[in-house]
Parts: sequence; structure tokens; C-alpha cells
Amino acid sequence: MTTPLPLVIGNWKMNMLASQACDMARSLVDRLSEVEGVEVVIAPPFTSLYPVGQIIKGSRLRLAGQNFYFASKGAYTGEVSLEMLRDVGCDFALIGHSERRSLFGENDAAINKKVHRAIQMGITAVVCVGETLEQRKAGATLNIIETQLSKGLAGLSGERLSTLAIAYEPVWAIGTGVNATPEQVADIHKFIRKFLFESLGFSEKVGTRILYGGSVNPENSKQLLQEDEIDGALVGGASLDFESFCAIINSALEP
Ligand code: PGA
Repeated sequence: MTTPLPLVIGNWKMNMLASQACDMARSLVDRLSEVEGVEVVIAPPFTSLYPVGQIIKGSRLRLAGQNFYFASKGAYTGEVSLEMLRDVGCDFALIGHSERRSLFGENDAAINKKVHRAIQMGITAVVCVGETLEQRKAGATLNIIETQLSKGLAGLSGERLSTLAIAYEPVWAIGTGVNATPEQVADIHKFIRKFLFESLGFSEKVGTRILYGGSVNPENSKQLLQEDEIDGALVGGASLDFESFCAIINSALEP
């Protein structure tokens, strides 16, 4: 098995106007033209996907949708399909981010439909899981993650899952400035890996990447990304700043 490259994703959430997103994409294309050994993905808001997709065409930078609806088209006001995302250049999509779960009522059943749809379409699904602070304090972290994985990934078979990544994002670490320690993350990633292989029957040969997300910044990224169990990072706030995001990308490279 060839070890997949580390994966660093910038989730821009509901930030940046199209002109700003385009400027940032141009700068990243330029800076990353020399960088090898890491896969870099950006997830701008929907309104910027098309122009950003045009700018990054032919470069090493990849594009992700932050969300999508599982039907391919139809009367679903306010939604976009994976066909639409692919049409503008996305080959990744985030699924089940904690903000989608907590603010927009997304549940594991909907997440499962999206995961199946992404795999069917050959789009890399980045499925987000993670516990709240209350759940961690109550000692329920592993149960929560197991439930999110078993429901969110229900019905998938292990052999065709190269187009799947998992992002462990403890809710208490997202946007708070308090990151989980590499040791805390490693423990959870080991649990996730074991669950994927032993309970869901995923093939180890496929090399499903498990990312960490939650207050990743240039100060903590090296320590996190050099941990063997951590295959990449899902970066929110720090991905909005060009130099910070580049510093995080650099820390995914071998020392
Ligand atoms: P953060 O967000 O890096 O701002 O904590 C991470 C995320 O929500 O994916």
C-alpha cells in the first residue's frame, strides 16, 4: 500500500466575498506550485466556488464544498447537489460538520445519505465527528464517536473507500483557541481506525485518512501533524489568513 499524502483542508465557512476568495486562491496557487508531499484543499462558500475553481484549474490545489444535498436535482430550495459541486471543480465535500449538526439540525441519517451519494459520485467525503465538552466530561466521547461513525457510515463496504476521510473535530476545540493535545487526538484516532477496520470491515489497504480539526494554528500544527496517528488537518479560522495557512501546510511536510 502506498501511504496517502497528508491532507490539509481550509474550511473558510461563511467568510470572504468572491473577490477576496479569488485573491486568496491565486496566492495559494502561486505559493503551492513548489510544495510537494501534502494535499491541500480549500472549501470556500458556494458563491466563490466557480471563480475559485477556474483559478485553481491545473494547479495542485483542490476544491471542496462545505455541504450539499443528497438528491441530484429538483425542488429543494436553497440546496446544491454534488453534480453542481463537481461541475464547478470540487472533488471533495465536507459532510456533517458540527456546525451543520448543531445549527442546522443535520442528523446521522442525512449524513449517511450524503456519504453514500459522495462515494457513488467519486467525490472524497470528509465526514466530521466529535464530542461536545459535556459529553467528554461525562466520559461519553467514545460512545458518541462510535454512534456517529456507525450511523453515518452505515452500509458502506471496506474495499471502495479510498474516497473517504474522517475528520475528528471535538466541538469544544472548534473556534475556541483550545486545541486537543496530540495525545488526546491520537487516542481517538486509534479508536476510529480500529472501529473502521474491525467493526465496519474497512480494508486497511485503502488507507482512509483521519484528520484532526479544532483550533489548529501555526503554533500547534507541527506537533499535531507530526503525530503518526494524525493524517492531516481540517483548519477553520487559521485558514483565512494566507501566511498562517501556509505555515500549517508546511508543518505537514516531513521535518
Ligand atoms: P477552527 O475550525 O480551526 O476555527 O477551530 C475548525 C473547523 O470547524 O473545521
